[in-house]
Amino acid sequence: MFKIVKKEMMTPTICRMVVEAPRLAASALPGQFLIIRADEQSERIPLTISDFDAEAGTVTIVTQKIGASTSEICSYNEGDCFADVVGPLGNPSDFVTMSDEELSGKAYVFIAGGVGTAPVYPQVKWLREKGAKVDVIIGAKTKDLIIYREEMEAVCDNLYLCTDDGSEGFHGLVTGLLEKLVTEDGKQYNQAVAIGPMIMMKFATLTCKKLNLPVIVSLNTLMVDGTGMCGACRVTVGGKVRFACVEGPEFDGWQVDFDEAMRRQRMYNTEEKEAAEHHVCRIGRGK
Ligand code: NAD
Ligand code: FES
Repeated sequence: MFKIVKKEMMTPTICRMVVEAPRLAASALPGQFLIIRADEQSERIPLTISDFDAEAGTVTIVTQKIGASTSEICSYNEGDCFADVVGPLGNPSDFVTMSDEELSGKAYVFIAGGVGTAPVYPQVKWLREKGAKVDVIIGAKTKDLIIYREEMEAVCDNLYLCTDDGSEGFHGLVTGLLEKLVTEDGKQYNQAVAIGPMIMMKFATLTCKKLNLPVIVSLNTLMVDGTGMCGACRVTVGGKVRFACVEGPEFDGWQVDFDEAMRRQRMYNTEEKEAAEHHVCRIGRGK
């Protein structure tokens, strides 16, 4: 069993939990994910790892209530235990194999969208510790939905905020702010990393292409087993079928067929909606 040692609501629908998982915490690296099952009957939910502490034996996960299973995860409290937390899964980010010398000459820009900001944090922390220059753009619908602001400020070189409604920072989407930074403010980057909703990663990639900037994306595809057996997570990258769980989740954005990935992501929308409407939580904490 995996005990929740800390829980906080970051917004009314996004919760952050620190979970005891010593073996996972000892081997996790930036870019990897885990699969969680709240109880023995629950659906398997893939979540990116938002932080890990090998010494404390804990991992941090950030979950947004968007359906029955994510609402179930968020209904658990400090002291409760999850039945399964499996990981680390997937490949770490490419930069973990680069030397400090290579990284100290590089300038990264992270494009973080909404709840996708959480998995950006361990990557930025790692890169800064290794001497890379790292700017971060966080985009959210409104000011109240910006997460990881203070944490990110503490680990990056420059933090830029934007909101769809203009309530904080640049008024517009992450793509507009990235373009402004490069074309008007003269910022220069060697590498972009975009993590957030699939539609954001698609348009961030198109903007990066326009700016001639390589971009890595972290694909949050449908996943079932997370070990390369079921094919649920398949995506087309560079014209070839790839399994995001074992060959990703990070890929070269320029090569990803985002339209196909979004079509596959929507495959079970009806079933998910029905599950959310009819779900009765087995531990009696409501929907
Ligand atoms: P959101 O819809 O509020 O979008 C966040 C930001 O992305 C927006 O503020 C905007 O700046 C940008 N964006 C959105 N649509 C865009 C477009 N068409 N063009 C350019 N920029 C655009 O985000 P949310 O509701 O917090 O997103 C939740 C989604 O993030 C879920 O679908 C979740 O699965 C996904 N997610 C992905 C990962 C990952 O690893 N890729 C990790 C966690 C969550
Ligand atoms: Fe089953 Fe990737 S989730 S093959």
